[in-house]
Amino acid sequence: MYCVRKVTEDLYWVGGNDRRLTLFENIHPIPRGVSYNSYLLLDEKTVLFDTVDWSAGRQFLENIEHVLDGRQLDYLVINHMEPDHGASIEEVLIRYPDVKIISTEKAFMMMHQFNFDVDGHMEEVQEGDTRSFGKHEVTFVAAPMVHWPEAMVTFDLTNGVLFAADAFGSFGSLDGKLFNDEVNFDRDWIDDARRYYTNIVGKYGPHVQALLKKAATIDIKMICPLHGPVWRSDLGYFLDKYDKWSSYEPEEQGVLIVYASMYGNTESAVNALATKLAVRGVTNVAMYDVSKTHVSELISETFRLSHLVLASVTYNLGIYPPMLNYLMDMKALNMQKRTVALIENGSWAPKSGALMEEFLDEMKQMTVLNEKVSVLSSLNEGSAIEMDQLVDGLIESMND
Ligand code: FEO
Repeated sequence: MYCVRKVTEDLYWVGGNDRRLTLFENIHPIPRGVSYNSYLLLDEKTVLFDTVDWSAGRQFLENIEHVLDGRQLDYLVINHMEPDHGASIEEVLIRYPDVKIISTEKAFMMMHQFNFDVDGHMEEVQEGDTRSFGKHEVTFVAAPMVHWPEAMVTFDLTNGVLFAADAFGSFGSLDGKLFNDEVNFDRDWIDDARRYYTNIVGKYGPHVQALLKKAATIDIKMICPLHGPVWRSDLGYFLDKYDKWSSYEPEEQGVLIVYASMYGNTESAVNALATKLAVRGVTNVAMYDVSKTHVSELISETFRLSHLVLASVTYNLGIYPPMLNYLMDMKALNMQKRTVALIENGSWAPKSGALMEEFLDEMKQMTVLNEKVSVLSSLNEGSAIEMDQLVDGLIESMND
């Protein structure tokens, strides 16, 4: 059975949801599922904007057939051809053999790499090109590395709708509610939106900044992303989040404590730290065990908060492997502009502090506080004094 939503008077959401998938990109947990959005415009010409992952393919094809109501499909605009959106392209071609695909040169190149049989359907466009479909005239804007190099976004000059590809998307399936004003985004969606952005697109902040600069020159009334809710109000809220995330500025002053503990002693030390911070009035503190928190959540929280405490046991004279994995992910995603405090632990040769500092030194604009704590097996009177000094250093830095 079809399941569609009207977006504007002549634009329909025809996508689908996947609540069965455990890991997005086979790496990021998505307990709330994910939506694959596609939009169908009924003008003098009929125009489909992007397709869906094959897991939602059957629903998608029923949706298109219902909305077209016997009409042919004239155009398929592919803003982003990664298979979570491009997987159903060939199925569309089989059902609508006269359709023309509008996309970028790189996207067509990749379609061929994925063995999509699109020859005879291709209509290549470049930045600034326009197309009229009747009442609606659209223009195409290059969006390289948001999130693949072939990506573009399409702006409807007639009604201000931006088909934003992966930009402004979110993890989470749509349970009937399509629009941002039908959900409590700041309560129910922002964590998934942040985790989506930071882990999927986070590395490409400068490219997102370039897209935001272009977006500032056009009068956007509505944002139709390829995942998550459609934005038709309060656009500034989400644009501001994207501006912060893509410039690696924290959303909030606060402390993220990520610890690696084998027998509970490092955990005990950071419990003492968090308590000292609370007593001193610093309550925006989040604490995670690196061994039992998925790294995508740690990355998301690292983008959210201004200060970071890394507390790691020494393991085989190195950094505890899950902590090293988190550090490597931070580096891979271009994380920067954070103030970091270090706590190391070791029973015979604590080395993790120096090793973590070396790692952070290779990242951009990471400030490591001079105050450090070195724990020998468990916090004692001497290391407790270091911890007090570390708390002083953190609070001083937060008040700067
Ligand atoms: Fe949602 Fe880059 O694909």
